[in-house]
Amino acid sequence: MEQRGAGAMNDDETWVPAGVDTEHPSAARMYDYFLGGGHNFAADRQLADKVLEVIPAKDIARINRSFLRRAVRYLVNEAGILQFLDLGSGVPTVGNVHEVAQHENPDCTVVYVDNDPVAVAHGELMLQHNGNATTILADLRQPTTVLGHDETLRLIDFREPTAVLMCAALHFLGDEEGPADIVAAYRDALCPDSALVISHATDDDYPDDLARAVELYKDTKSPVTARTREQIVEFFAGFDLVSPGVVLLPLWRPDFREIADPRRSLCYGGVGIKTI
Ligand SMILES: C[S@@+](CC[C@H](N)C(=O)[O-])C[C@H]1O[C@@H](n2cnc3c(N)ncnc32)[C@H](O)[C@@H]1O
Repeated sequence: MEQRGAGAMNDDETWVPAGVDTEHPSAARMYDYFLGGGHNFAADRQLADKVLEVIPAKDIARINRSFLRRAVRYLVNEAGILQFLDLGSGVPTVGNVHEVAQHENPDCTVVYVDNDPVAVAHGELMLQHNGNATTILADLRQPTTVLGHDETLRLIDFREPTAVLMCAALHFLGDEEGPADIVAAYRDALCPDSALVISHATDDDYPDDLARAVELYKDTKSPVTARTREQIVEFFAGFDLVSPGVVLLPLWRPDFREIADPRRSLCYGGVGIKTI
């Protein structure tokens, strides 16, 4: 039996929710593989290995998680935000948003949202004894459904400051899907002093490598659209960007230097605070 990664499950499929398509690669399970997790299958690993030939996806995934953790700690400790709506939250891994946030303040509440059944099934398992965090199976492209979901409303009071997280998620929306309007729909549900966190793939620095990776992701149900820094900044309309603004991920309030060339993170990230 083949086993991969630190938290390796296996390919016997007994842990797989009914109806999951294991034959075709899933972006969520490929990301789990990049992070060294075990909730992935041969089809995911085959495509992920091809992606690794063109971009340093394992480093990028780790750097993205590290940015997410720094952003959450900032939001709890410096912005005083205790409610989190994590859109495109992924397969649970070490250092999840609720772990980071509740470590800083046990009163933090977290709603995870993903449209991948494996991500949601394992989120439910992990959170079964955590009354302040939940996972819902939903499509982030449907803000009304997500915002009005019973579980969202159980844990988030939108009259209080709330952080919407869209980390490594918005680049799975094509321009034709109106990503800016979708972000705006979440923004409009938030009260002042709420926050938006985005990390997003870019082809600003290594367009050829990114183009090859984008081509490979066409084999998943989640094709990727890389965007320029300017386009990513535009998603923050209605928010004031926290210093240092939208920057390459390793440059956002780093704890230490995690990569020789920050451009190899191939992603920008930023945090904005809603002022009105
Ligand atoms: C690369 S992972 C990022 C996970 C986590 N946010 C992070 O930054 O570590 C992207 C996740 O977004 C999810 N996703 C993609 N499109 C989505 C959609 N339309 N609705 C909900 N989730 C989506 C995928 O299933 C996947 O789990």
